[in-house]
Amino acid sequence: MGFAGQHIISIGDFSAEDIRELLRLAHRIEQDPPPDLFRNRLMATLFFEPSTRTRLSFEAAMQKCGGTVIGFSEAAMTSARKGESLADTIRMVEQYSDVIVLRHPRDGSARLAAEVSSVPVINGGDGANQHPSQTFLDLYTIDKLFPNCFAEHEDQPLTVAFAGDLRYGRTVHSLLAALSHFHVRVLCCAPHGLEMPDHHVRLAQQQGIEVQEVEHLADAVAQADVLYMTRLQEERFPDPIEFDHVKNTYRLTAQLLTHAKPHLRVLHPLPRVNEIARDVDTTPHACYFAQAGNGIPVRQALLSLVLGLAP
Ligand code: CP
Repeated sequence: MGFAGQHIISIGDFSAEDIRELLRLAHRIEQDPPPDLFRNRLMATLFFEPSTRTRLSFEAAMQKCGGTVIGFSEAAMTSARKGESLADTIRMVEQYSDVIVLRHPRDGSARLAAEVSSVPVINGGDGANQHPSQTFLDLYTIDKLFPNCFAEHEDQPLTVAFAGDLRYGRTVHSLLAALSHFHVRVLCCAPHGLEMPDHHVRLAQQQGIEVQEVEHLADAVAQADVLYMTRLQEERFPDPIEFDHVKNTYRLTAQLLTHAKPHLRVLHPLPRVNEIARDVDTTPHACYFAQAGNGIPVRQALLSLVLGLAP
């Protein structure tokens, strides 16, 4: 579909070539960031749910290249508290800004916002549904770690293992859909009841991707080139007792990594709670903090494309 003037709502809207275009641009921007790229452009960040990385890295991406930012990080301080609808909020903010980044607890909220907005809306996470800018930075990180793995004629499939809460974790839903364009093999390793939803697996399989369930984290560690860990999304569990049953069931430790391939790289969208032990941080496998840093060039690339400013 391309990017210029587009809303960024679901990773499913983008082709393999769109993704490669974004990754190429992010590489160029990372090497030589244009200081005035976003001069006279204003971004609004509307965050109805907590965030550290997504909001701050979008804001840093904009400001480092000469743009300005307005927004909020807490809906309680806005007129949503007085009952203003999301659609009306967007109809206001589109008049103040050139692009809107929205995070909202309801699935489908970003799509709704896009329907009423005349400026591009970027989905910064809608409920358990999608988080496309996170997916672009995940892909960028994997591409840097395994150069050419997303090339058109790559022979050797990359094995990507997803582990943790695959039911409520939106980042894994987006990433599985994106990886389905490429030559990968996917392993899914989740506590009982938190498996990857069937419709996401079916979509990937229809694209020709092998998706295999793996019961034990140790098996995923042993087979994977990339291990993508996720936090249990406590806030999305309908029943706290259900959460208590599964918490602490999946924990990656340095000891477990002694069975990994030497080149295994561990990613995590963060924040982590206790699913990755601190002793993993100092192993050569840990890449999650560098992954978060990649949010800057990737979001600069995304903003420049939707604003029609690509250098
Ligand atoms: N990865 C991510 O979305 O982090 P935040 O919730 O801190 O934005």
